[in-house]
Order: sequence, then structure tokens, then C-alpha cells
Amino acid sequence: SEPLRLGIAGLGTVGTGVVRIIQNHAGMLAARSGRPITISAVCARDRMRNRGVDLSGYAWEDDATAVATRDDVDIFVELIGGDNGPAKAATEAALAAGKDVVTANKALLAHHGPALAEAAEAAGRVIRFEAAVAGGIPVVKALTEGLAANTLTRVMGVMNGTCNYILTRMESAGLPYETVFEEARQLGYLEADPRLDVDGIDAGHKLSLLAAIAFGTRVCFDAVELEGIRRIAIEDIRHAADMGYRIKLLGVAQMTGRGLEQRMSPCLVPADSPLGQLQGGTNMVVLEGDSVGQVVLRGPGAGEGPTASAVMADVMDIARGIRLPTFGQPAASLAEPFPARGAVP
Ligand code: HSE
Repeated sequence: SEPLRLGIAGLGTVGTGVVRIIQNHAGMLAARSGRPITISAVCARDRMRNRGVDLSGYAWEDDATAVATRDDVDIFVELIGGDNGPAKAATEAALAAGKDVVTANKALLAHHGPALAEAAEAAGRVIRFEAAVAGGIPVVKALTEGLAANTLTRVMGVMNGTCNYILTRMESAGLPYETVFEEARQLGYLEADPRLDVDGIDAGHKLSLLAAIAFGTRVCFDAVELEGIRRIAIEDIRHAADMGYRIKLLGVAQMTGRGLEQRMSPCLVPADSPLGQLQGGTNMVVLEGDSVGQVVLRGPGAGEGPTASAVMADVMDIARGIRLPTFGQPAASLAEPFPARGAVP
């Protein structure tokens, strides 16, 4: 049958991982998807860098929009990042050119999710973003598919591996924030703009996306109450430990009488609870539904293999003909996250 042809913008860690999976598992992907998955074109900032994968069979384009609009591309895979600029322009161009979009870009969707979802539906295309939230953990699919028959009562979790690494390491090594922050930088864990990690912005982006799916509301990142981990002192961690607690950067979203509550902030959790036991760069998402009860998902929140695994799951869904609306229901049916003024709670 006809191959499904990708155009990939961005060949950093994740993009390289996607290429590697496609090259190493072509037969399995084709068998499970019902059609071969191929790459037509790529673009990246640095064309010469040796990424350890053979890129000679793909066309190189100068920019993301050129990749997104090629005739021989069916799915535009956006792995550039950033809530504005080339990622946004190329995503819009892809939809306008009749391409489906798979993205790992949480910032873009947190800021422009509703408009992009509407644009996708108007064009009869889909946008999928499993890789944008909690890396390798299939949490978007859990909400949109596995738990589709539940009224979600609460969504919470640890969604930034870098902050979890910093907090875990401060406690285990007894080191101050600044020292561990520098370690994290040297290990390459921090986003290019580290404020996204340590101020809770990246985790807040992810929480706002999960909340939209869980509660059927338009994404509203501006309403996330954000507090990061910069002001956590080693003394705070010690005092918490003395009382049997750990400090985690925890996101919580729930629907209240006054509308959607979304908070991302350092919280005390019991040291022996699943959240308290969460080590290093791992993520954990807790989903609570009226019928299912509590579901806990834990796994790698970043990195080449895990994030590429999530990107490819979305690509394979599209190859299989699974065409879910961006946030699990038609964009026009998403509610405003806050009741209109004067509405009775
Ligand atoms: N900076 C993010 C994290 C990367 O540490 O979790 C994955 O989104």
C-alpha cells in the first residue's frame, strides 16, 4: 500500500530519534500501521553535524515551512520548538497545504492550541501532540482514548524531569540549588532557556494541555498559577525530610464551581508515596476519573528514545486512519474554562 511520507523539521535529540526508529524498525512499523512509513524531507539548523544516522536519502530544505508544504509530504513533524516564529508559521502552512501535523511543541499548543485546533478542523486535518506532554508516557492517549468515557475529576503530576532531577539531587547529595542547577546545565538537562524549566513554565504548558483534554475546555495557559523551584533552599528540603515529606514541583488541575483550577507549584508529598518516590528525570501523571478511579502513569519525561517513541505513536495512529480531534473533541465544543460572569456555580 501507499507509503505515509514524513517531513521532519528539527533534527536535534528528538528528530534524530525519530529517524533512528524509522530506519531500524521499518518492517515492524509497516506491519503495525498497515503501510510503510518513510521520510521525504528534513531541515535542521546545523546541516553538517554528525548525528549518527544516515540522512543521505532525504531531501534537505532550508526552512520548516518548505518541509511542511512539499508535495511529497503527508505529515509535517514539527520538532523545532518555540511558541512563535518558524514552528508556528510552518504548522499553519502545513495545515493550509493539507498536511496532518505531529508535534512535540508544548509551548506552541499551550499558547495557540485553540486556534490551531480550529485551523486543523477547518482543513480536515489533524494535529497530534503525545510527545509534548511527559515525553514517553502515553498520557494524551490515556485521556483521549483509554479514559474517554470518564468524567475526569482531577489531573496531577510531576511533568518536568529537570526540576525533579534538581530537587532529588539536592536531597540525596545535600547540595544547594545553585550547585545542582549548574550540574543539570552541564548534563544538558536544561532547556535552552532554563527559566522554562525552573520557573515551572514548561510543566505549566503541559498541565494546561492535559487540563484541556480532561475537562473539555479551551487551553488556557495564562490561567495556570505558576511557582517554580528557584526559591527552594536545601533547608526546606531537610525540614520536609525530617517530617517524612519530599518537595516536588507538582501540577494539579481540577474543575471547581468557579471554573478550572490549574496550579503548578512546589508541594510537600509523603516521602513513601508514589510521587515522593519519583527519582531523577522521571515523570508521573495521576488521572482520576469518575468510573475508573485513579490511574497512575510513570515513565521517562524526556530524551531521544522516549520522546521519539511518542512522536511515532502519533504518526502510526494517522497511518492507521485514527483521526482524533486535537483535544479529543471538536474544537467548537470545547467550553470556556471559566463560567460566564453571573453564572450560577
Ligand atoms: N525540559 C523538559 C523536562 C523536557 O525536563 O521535562 C521535556 O519536555
